[in-house]
Amino acid sequence: MERTLILLKPDAVQRDLVGEIIARLERKGLKLVGLKMMQLTDELLNEHYSHLVSRPFFPEVKSFMQLTPVIACCVEGTECVAAVRQLVGITKAREAAPGTIRGEFAMSTQANLIHCSDSLESAEVEVKRFFKPEEIFEYKDVQEQYVY
Ligand code: PPS
Repeated sequence: MERTLILLKPDAVQRDLVGEIIARLERKGLKLVGLKMMQLTDELLNEHYSHLVSRPFFPEVKSFMQLTPVIACCVEGTECVAAVRQLVGITKAREAAPGTIRGEFAMSTQANLIHCSDSLESAEVEVKRFFKPEEIFEYKDVQEQYVY
């Protein structure tokens, strides 16, 4: 069973799309195992986007990600890293496929609503970066347990 990291970026928060996006993750069948609001620090962003430091848009990525708090989610599911990426759509949102979250709701490469881990290896690192072990929950499917 895989876990992956999802950040709902400041444009999702400002545009009141948090509920819509989380509902789509839930409806897909992904299990929410971690969820919190965070104001991202310079330190955390330097680490998270360290692969982009040499890119001209790096300062803008950082300032954009600090415009509002973000919502950090950890979801669990079979092959969920790829499933979430498919649900979210490609980075350049105006070219994202219709039906994907970015395809439905965004036009920008920066304000593209969501960050999600791009591989199982980065998901493992990123979940640990944003969540302490005690902030990730293990629980049974209540409906399965209490069907009577
Ligand atoms: S790469 O190297 O371009 O493939 O980078 P990638 O891993 O896809 O991550 C790019 C993240 O930077 C944000 N961003 C931009 N990317 C490309 N071009 C421009 N101009 C740009 N501006 C911002 C983009 O939203 C990606 O953020 P995350 O949080 O990783 O989705």
